Amino acid sequence: MGHNASMSKGIFISFEGIDGAGKSTHIQGLAEAFTQQGRTVTLTREPGGTQLAEALREMLLHQPMDAWSEALLVFAARRDHLVKVIAPALQRGEVVLCDRFTDATHAYQGGGRGLPSQSLDALEQGVQTLDGRGFLEPDLTLWFELPPEVAAQRLTGARLPDRFEAQPLAFFQAVHQGYEQRAQAAPQRIRRIDASASRHQVWQQITRLLVQKGWLSIMVPVPAALQIQSS
Ligand SMILES: Nc1ncnc2c1ncn2[C@@H]1O[C@H](COP(=O)(O)OP(=O)(O)OP(=O)(O)O)[C@@H](O)[C@H]1O
Ligand SMILES: [Mg+2]
Repeated sequence: MGHNASMSKGIFISFEGIDGAGKSTHIQGLAEAFTQQGRTVTLTREPGGTQLAEALREMLLHQPMDAWSEALLVFAARRDHLVKVIAPALQRGEVVLCDRFTDATHAYQGGGRGLPSQSLDALEQGVQTLDGRGFLEPDLTLWFELPPEVAAQRLTGARLPDRFEAQPLAFFQAVHQGYEQRAQAAPQRIRRIDASASRHQVWQQITRLLVQKGWLSIMVPVPAALQIQSS
């Protein structure tokens, strides 16, 4: 359904995919494109986006804990983020670009860690329902689909791995499966981006989709950060 229609013309877009798929590479350029076309953009990420949620992120990425604790902390962070940042921005009519959202919880804690999807569904329903506004979810989710082997290769040497990035390939294959199930269940909202293509081609896939939606006009400049990259 997308975020509640009573909340004006804000646009809520989430970016999903396994570690190394290219989300962060493209989200910044997209923020610039929307800004150049006259929109106000809130660029944010999960877990995180508020002081409380960023503190929870630190714990999630670095402290040992089991799958349930992960899921509950992620949803606590999400509630805070939604109430304090995302819902107000949408109500002001802004474009909200969020690096990961609830599909990541289904993929990582569901697919990757094996939590039952009904439990995650129940948490999602409760956490994303706001007083007087109903259920809130992204209008569009860009799934950067990339074979886990390729993602691992891209990340090699790029940075010190956190608790998730340090997981074996089999974990990312399970996470990928989790995303696959989500995409099949919500094909209107979740759109696949072939993230194995070059940066330029990935950018074109994304902007073509946003032009189709009527959210960006045809004149979408290629971000400077992509121009200096070789692929
Ligand atoms: N289309 C592409 N082809 C080749 N390399 C790419 C492409 N897109 C991004 N990369 C490179 O792959 C690495 C991972 O990209 P990026 O950090 O954007 O992924 P991410 O999805 O944000 O990962 P994470 O979930 O870990 O934050 C970076 O070094 C980036 O420059
Ligand atoms: Mg990133």
